[in-house]
Amino acid sequence: GSTTLFKSIKQQLHLDNEQLKQVMGTMQSEMVEGLCRSDSTSSLGMLPSYVSSVPCGDERGCYLALDLGGTNFRVLLIKILDETNDSKKCRVEMANQIFSLPESIIQGDSEGFFGYIAECIAMFCEEHGLMDSYLPVGFTFSFPLEQRGLNQGVLLTWTKGFDVSGVKGQDVVQLLTAAINKRGDMNCEVVAIVNDTVGTMMSCALTEPHCKIGLIVGTGCNACYMEKLSNVHMVDGEHGDMCINMELGGFGDNGVLDEIRTEFDKAVDSDSLNPDCHLFEKMISGMYLGELVRLILCKLTKEGAIFNGEGSKKLFTPGMFKTAYVSEIEYKSVDDKLHGNILIRNILQELGLTPDDADCEAVHNVCHLVSKRAAHLCAAGVAAVALKVKENHDTESMKVTVGVDGTVYRKHPTFSKLMSQKVEELCDGTGVSIDFVLSHDGSGKGAALVAAAMSEKVC
Ligand code: BG6
Ligand code: GLC
Repeated sequence: GSTTLFKSIKQQLHLDNEQLKQVMGTMQSEMVEGLCRSDSTSSLGMLPSYVSSVPCGDERGCYLALDLGGTNFRVLLIKILDETNDSKKCRVEMANQIFSLPESIIQGDSEGFFGYIAECIAMFCEEHGLMDSYLPVGFTFSFPLEQRGLNQGVLLTWTKGFDVSGVKGQDVVQLLTAAINKRGDMNCEVVAIVNDTVGTMMSCALTEPHCKIGLIVGTGCNACYMEKLSNVHMVDGEHGDMCINMELGGFGDNGVLDEIRTEFDKAVDSDSLNPDCHLFEKMISGMYLGELVRLILCKLTKEGAIFNGEGSKKLFTPGMFKTAYVSEIEYKSVDDKLHGNILIRNILQELGLTPDDADCEAVHNVCHLVSKRAAHLCAAGVAAVALKVKENHDTESMKVTVGVDGTVYRKHPTFSKLMSQKVEELCDGTGVSIDFVLSHDGSGKGAALVAAAMSEKVC
């Protein structure tokens, strides 16, 4: 009956510490393997970013930054100035504008896509009286890139619902530069392209010098960290460090997660724009959590376990159960009195359902199980990376700071706590203690800092 079904779903979604440690172990070996060869069977991209240090604090100048690939597409103007009364330190002033990215653009063709981005930059420059100024650009582009330098990056694959034709295999910097030059009305130059994890790490490292890991739990899920250059076999050089974009979301694409993936994970994947890709991300990030919950609720409904066996058109429509609903419903775990069933009932009624109290409880349970699994898997990822950082430093004990951003981390009521508690458990006895620092100004600031390290001081 319905209790057995609930039990089985709970069992499938529950991961105990032993399983999580197994995930960590597999991830650690895939990290090492991914660093060794570009043709390795590792499912982690381990992509060199050509960022070799966190900011040193003497970066100055005026930069344009683009932030593309998260919930919002932003153009930013970033001024890095001397701190008042202390020229050794810097202070950052920012202005930004959000532009919409319609589906016709993110699923259209290359010319339309880059033409649109160039147009947004032009609108922003016009607004700020910058049309004639020379501006170096730091470009946060939150997709997997194969880089051979800071201002060059070939798109390996689209993720997160982007699917612009004619870009895969091309250098994104060149495509944007061509679109800017075609307009001929601006004087800006892309000097650095960085992943959002890298931008976030850089941005946090300005105030937290020990920040050596960047984490995004938003539309997508990914991490970067500072690796020893001597461990990065794809890049020449023995001394110094290199920030590695792990493309953590792709973990499991070679089958290593098959044992813990459920029928719901498989359904989310096969209905996505990038089937068989980014399987870890599809268990964790904001783009997919709502859909996972929806699929579980559909099954429970069809088996007669909830809603008296009667669903609704909206419940049975892909994408209709937003991840924001999962967050709202999870408030019940934080404060049952204030956020009890009324809120849940409202959401379910909006979806055309007529729930009773037991249905509300059941829906909350599903949201909690899916959220907890996501937070715990992410914790296993963070713990694996932190252990690698510690191993590289060859010390008994180490404090590792993780710079983090993304709507799931920021807005979901229990995710951050579930993740940090689990990280602590998983690292118990290893000598690593992990500290999360939320990025306050997004990754644009980090991209500007990277651009600053690259270019002449202007302004
Ligand atoms: C933003 C960063 O704050 O967070 C972006 O500036 C990043 O670079 C984003 O992509 C991730 O979160 P989300 O939820 O918008 O995908
Ligand atoms: C996806 C992208 C990755 C990005 C992450 C978070 O996983 O492939 O590059 O960092 O989303 O935005």
